[in-house]
Amino acid sequence: MLAHVALHGEDSHGDLHKSQIVCRARATVGTGWTGAARPAERRPWPAPRRHTGGVDGELPAGARWDRPAGMTGAAYDAGYVATASTSLLRDLAAQAYGEDYPREVEPFGMTTWWVLGQVVAHARVGPGHRLVDLACGRGGPGLWLARATGASLVGVDWSSVAVEASRERAASFVPEGRARFVVGDLAETGLPDGSADAVVCLDAIFFAPDRVATLREVRRVLRPGGRFVFTASEGVTAPGRHAVPDWEPLLSAAGLTLEWRAPVPGFAEHLRRMYALWLEHLDRIVAELGPGPARSMEQEARSLGPTLQPGQGVLVVARRPGGTDS
Ligand SMILES: C[S@@+](CC[C@H](N)C(=O)[O-])C[C@H]1O[C@@H](n2cnc3c(N)ncnc32)[C@H](O)[C@@H]1O
Repeated sequence: MLAHVALHGEDSHGDLHKSQIVCRARATVGTGWTGAARPAERRPWPAPRRHTGGVDGELPAGARWDRPAGMTGAAYDAGYVATASTSLLRDLAAQAYGEDYPREVEPFGMTTWWVLGQVVAHARVGPGHRLVDLACGRGGPGLWLARATGASLVGVDWSSVAVEASRERAASFVPEGRARFVVGDLAETGLPDGSADAVVCLDAIFFAPDRVATLREVRRVLRPGGRFVFTASEGVTAPGRHAVPDWEPLLSAAGLTLEWRAPVPGFAEHLRRMYALWLEHLDRIVAELGPGPARSMEQEARSLGPTLQPGQGVLVVARRPGGTDS
C-alpha cells in the first residue's frame, strides 16, 4: 500500500490484528543526510556495528526480528482483498510521489521510477535470463522489469491472493509464458539452486524474522555471479523493531558481497507527503477501507511521519561470488 506496508495492524504491545490493514513505513530513523546516490565505500553513515544490539549477540545487529504471530500470508491475503476494490490509496500515493510514481506498476511499496531504473542497471538481465521477484506482491514491479529487460520472471509471495492477482496482471505486461508466480516464503522459495540470473526484493526483506537465512536462500537461488537488488530501510536506531542498522554484515554472513548501496532519492519526502494525505483524507479511508485499517493508518502517519529523515531508504546491490558477468 503504497506506503510500505505490511498488511497488518499492530497494537502497542506489538500484537497484530489480522483484520486491519496498515501501510507500515520502513520504520527506521534515517541517516541524516541528503544527496545523490553514492557508492558504498563513500557512504557517510556510521560504520557497521557488528555484534552489538543483535537479538542473540552472536549475529550482526538486525539479523533477527521477532515477527508478530499474526503477521502471516493469510493476514496479507485479507489486506490484498480489502484494497483490491478501491484505487484510493494508489491515488494518494500518486499524488504524494508526483512524477516519481510509476502508475502502471501500482507498487505495493515505495518503488519509484528511480528504483526501477536502478534495478535494470544493476540486475543486468536480458532475454534468455531469469529474474526472480521475491515477495512480489501484486507483481507490478517484477512484470515491468521483465518487460523492460526481456528476461523471464518468477514471482514469489506468501500471499496466495497476491500471487493470483499477479497472474491476472501478467498478460498486460509480457507475452504468455514469460512470467510465472508461486506461493512461497522469503526464506523458503522452493526454487531450484542457481536458477536465477538475478533476484530482486522490493520493500519486503526486512519482514523476514531471520534475515540471514533469507539472504542465504537468495544466495542459493542465484547462479554464481548473479546479483541481488533490494530496497529496505537502514539506520542506527528505529522506532519499529524490524529495522536493520547496516545490511553489509548480514549479507556477508550469508555469503553475499555488497557491491553498491545508495539512498533512494525522495524516500522520506514521498512518505511524509503520503502520511499528510492519509490524515487529510481519513474520512474517505474510513469509508472505503473500514475504521480498523483507517485507525492503524492514522496511528502510523502520526507516529512515524515526524521521525522520517532523508536517506533512510536504501537500494542495495549484492552479488553471489564466482561466475561471470552477464
Ligand atoms: C510492501 S509489500 C511489497 C510487494 C512488492 N514487492 C511491491 O513492491 O509491490 C511486501 C510483500 O511482502 C510479502 N511478504 C511478507 N513477508 C513474507 C514472507 N515471509 N514470505 C513471502 N512473502 C512475504 C507480502 O505478502 C507483501 O506482498
